[in-house]
Amino acid sequence: MSDKLRSLLDKLPPAIIALLLQAAAFACLLLTARASGIQLSPLMFAVLCGTLATVLSRLAGLAKWWLIIQFLFIPALILMLSLGLPPNFFLIVFVILLVVYWSTFRTQVPLYFSSRRIWQALELLLPAPVTGKNFTFIDLGSGIGGVLTHLAGVRKDGLYHGVEAAPLPYWWSWLRIRLGGYANCQVQWGSLWDCNLGNYDVVFAYLSPVPMDELWQKALLEMRPGTVFISNTFAVADHPPQQTFTVDDLHHSTLYIWYM
Ligand SMILES: C[S@@+](CC[C@H](N)C(=O)[O-])C[C@H]1O[C@@H](n2cnc3c(N)ncnc32)[C@H](O)[C@@H]1O
Repeated sequence: MSDKLRSLLDKLPPAIIALLLQAAAFACLLLTARASGIQLSPLMFAVLCGTLATVLSRLAGLAKWWLIIQFLFIPALILMLSLGLPPNFFLIVFVILLVVYWSTFRTQVPLYFSSRRIWQALELLLPAPVTGKNFTFIDLGSGIGGVLTHLAGVRKDGLYHGVEAAPLPYWWSWLRIRLGGYANCQVQWGSLWDCNLGNYDVVFAYLSPVPMDELWQKALLEMRPGTVFISNTFAVADHPPQQTFTVDDLHHSTLYIWYM
């Protein structure tokens, strides 16, 4: 693969590359079938298309799980169409996925949740209580607000802030905070990259490996000395944490802790 093509691919999110390669495989196979006059059944066309898309994706360097998705994509499409489901079904599913996952295709940070054990471990990492003084905490990508509402309930001397990009998790957490009467807790719909981390004593993130380097640079630039940066599960390459804390949950999740 030429250097120019490689650097173009590096700039695109994997989901867009996958879609382009699917389209390329589809077009290639359609043109070849037309030119050669070979009649392919829809299923055979789908399997060949999936195979070609998988090969192209392998050559483009997509991760392993994309190869499975690429192989199954067109066969699954043909199968779904053969079920004769009403078009509204697809629209409804699309809208639900959109409001839950929103810009995941770009951020590469999907929605999943910290366990209750992680919430409890975080309690131990909050600043010691000081009479008459509140500490500040932010959850970057706060999902449906589980971390925030748990901590807001057990440590009332904290001011808890969440920022969430996806609409449905944001609305859910907003409602959860309202209905739960958490006066020391608020959530904002927006991007974590627009938050000033200098406003917080504890910064918590549970994202994915993709944004960690950039987030670390942001934390270095903005966080005050003496504050704490905590990442659930995802470390920062070449910057080992001062402390780690592994909890006994389903995935044996580890908290990575940096004292800034
Ligand atoms: C793995 S979930 C973590 C949810 C919650 N913090 C927890 O620990 O249970 C990551 C969340 O970050 C959100 N997210 C991803 N990129 C974001 C961004 N740039 N700005 C704000 N939220 C983002 C996703 O929508 C998702 O809800």
